[in-house]
Amino acid sequence: MISVTETSAGEPLFHLRAGDASYVFSVFHGYLLHLYCGPAVGEDDLEYLLVRVGHDSVVPRPFDTSETWFSLDIAPQEIPAYGTGDYRPSALMIRHGAGGKLTPGSTAVSVRYLSHEILPGKPPIPGDIQPAVRANEDEADTLIVTAEDPASGVRFRLYYTAMRSLPVILRRTAVENASSAPLDLLRIASASLDFVSPVEPAELLHLWGTWGRERHTERTPLCHGTVSVSSRRGASSHHHNPFAALVSSRTDERSGPAVGISLIYSGNFEILADVDPFGSLRLSAGIDPTGFSWRLDPGEVFVSPEAVIAVSGEGLGKMSRALHRLFRDHLCRGKWAERSSPRPVPVNNWEATYFRFDADKLVSIAKEAADCGIDMLVMDDGWFGRRNDDRSSLGDWVVNEEKLPGGLKPLSDRIHGLGLKFGIWFEPEMISPDSDLYRAHPDWALHTEGRPLSVARNQYVIDMTRPDVRDWLFGAISAVLSSARIDYVKWDFNRNLTEAASLSLPEERQGEIFHRFVLGLYDLLGRVTAAFPDILFEGCSSGGGRFDPAMLYYSPQIWTSDDTDAMERLDIQLGTSFCYPPSSISCHVSASPNHQTGRETSFLTRGHVAMAGVFGYELDLTKLTAEEKELARKQAEESRRIWPLVRNGDFYRLILPSDTVNGKTGRCAAWMFVSEDRSEALVTFVSIRASIHPVYFLRLEGLDPDARYEIEETGEILSGSTLMNAGLNLTKNRRDGESVVIRLKKTPVREG
Ligand code: DGJ
Repeated sequence: MISVTETSAGEPLFHLRAGDASYVFSVFHGYLLHLYCGPAVGEDDLEYLLVRVGHDSVVPRPFDTSETWFSLDIAPQEIPAYGTGDYRPSALMIRHGAGGKLTPGSTAVSVRYLSHEILPGKPPIPGDIQPAVRANEDEADTLIVTAEDPASGVRFRLYYTAMRSLPVILRRTAVENASSAPLDLLRIASASLDFVSPVEPAELLHLWGTWGRERHTERTPLCHGTVSVSSRRGASSHHHNPFAALVSSRTDERSGPAVGISLIYSGNFEILADVDPFGSLRLSAGIDPTGFSWRLDPGEVFVSPEAVIAVSGEGLGKMSRALHRLFRDHLCRGKWAERSSPRPVPVNNWEATYFRFDADKLVSIAKEAADCGIDMLVMDDGWFGRRNDDRSSLGDWVVNEEKLPGGLKPLSDRIHGLGLKFGIWFEPEMISPDSDLYRAHPDWALHTEGRPLSVARNQYVIDMTRPDVRDWLFGAISAVLSSARIDYVKWDFNRNLTEAASLSLPEERQGEIFHRFVLGLYDLLGRVTAAFPDILFEGCSSGGGRFDPAMLYYSPQIWTSDDTDAMERLDIQLGTSFCYPPSSISCHVSASPNHQTGRETSFLTRGHVAMAGVFGYELDLTKLTAEEKELARKQAEESRRIWPLVRNGDFYRLILPSDTVNGKTGRCAAWMFVSEDRSEALVTFVSIRASIHPVYFLRLEGLDPDARYEIEETGEILSGSTLMNAGLNLTKNRRDGESVVIRLKKTPVREG
């Protein structure tokens, strides 16, 4: 719901109610001032939220006013602009070109309100191809504020969508060059919010990592100055994720304030939290400005990626569950993202064979898979060109007939003949220097003429900014996908951009390369997914190097990490769950000892951990013992049975490995799924390192306190309130790496 009233000065005052959250801003002398973002506030109290703080006389004022408190350097703003008196990090910076009213090369800009409109639902932005949340007229309301920079004539359209049943606000900014001179956009945040009385002491929770250890959580206290996370790699990256949450030091899973901010973007991003000397806190998210510029000729429009703001007054768990619902129900698309679509349980041959496979080897794995009730065989890297290691052939998307005689069709037929689906691997955005494609088109590699080109994993990045290159890729991918029955595609991306320049762009547009690369990726993914709507796409980037909401728009699941060790996966998967739904977190049971860490973990525990997301296998099934095969059969069946809980239920993090339990950290982890109607729950507890005499009651969450639940394993019946307030008794010595899964079912309340 969005309401508009007037301030005492007769200017608009906007109240966006999203679920049980409020987002309030107003117009003051034409400036857009941010008043509030948090748990709901009373409709009649909105103007009260505008804090008029006095300040020293040296701060600039934009006009002569008796309101001596008013300075852009202090006022909480919606779209803080560079160069006109706000010295904090700007959401907007523009370099004005020659031929207009302003000094050519000057960079000051101002944003002043002109008008607004409110529309039901979430109308698409004309001409925009970027991934964005969708919502129909019953699910959301959208406010569009039109503003301008009076001196230059540049126009702005600020889009705000309030989800009706989720505490989520979506924001985007469109900049239209309505002036008569060209301009360069140098900085454009998708969302910027000022908190005048921030939660104190404030902290930023964010997700950091590297290859094989993606999305570990870190909470860092904010200081006077700026704390930021970003990527300048051309992808959202392993190193930081386009998500962070502003929390207080007392916020935990169940209580305390949390404002999550997530950017629906796969490229260079920056999320920052800046505290000024007055204690005002600015949180912003957008394209990373390093090296970025975007030329807008008169009449052209630039639309920012979409930012998601998720509000909770009751801890991080609630914030995550709001993001989970938003992403799985309003962002992921296609038939595989639907509520009722079960996802196939795959076996992927990467850790089974790496590059050493042929059709017969794959069929031998598929036969075992069929016997275990596994649904799909995925053929990973190495099926094309002369690719027997990672030194060649990216770009030569032609089947290697030495490995797969007769092409893909005979293999696909054999796999389907066993009753399995068949999937393949691609890495379309890359080109190997040792490839026929590169020999024919060396200019297709993204590079700077006259400068040596860095290699990473023996490969270059293809110039996705060029429509001719994308057309060629679409043709090559389509030819492969049409050549046989293919049910699944793993879309990989194994290096980041360097020496990035494109021969197709003029000098003044080279600063657009990184964003254009991402737009090119969206264009190609959009065309391929539309042309093959029945194929399930899985995102991947050397594991989880591009695990972001924009990729979820095209692929409802993403390979989470190349570290498949079950103990390592606890941090990775639970960290990922802060922003992303378990139904997007791809998790496979791999071999023991684990290929990345050498650690031995039981088959049972590997299965329990992998069932925290989209379940599958990544090992040579022909090497399983009879006992392991029997377990695999049960696991595949169980994962299908619990899929509705994973897809549609609520996820609760109960213990993180980094939590202190009885004075020690790194000892255990626990989580649970609860069905939407609270009739069913699944609790998983993992002992990472054994402890002597662990007396342990695990407090559950999300159950109906008044209902009684039967513990399937023991037949005990306990009330929801007991299980949530006193806890589930897990007292038992458990070895290193031992795990337990407990299923709860609501029973009819008994008399007496
Ligand atoms: C990186 C991926 O994360 C792996 O799963 C595998 O597909 C390799 N690439 C193949 O090169």
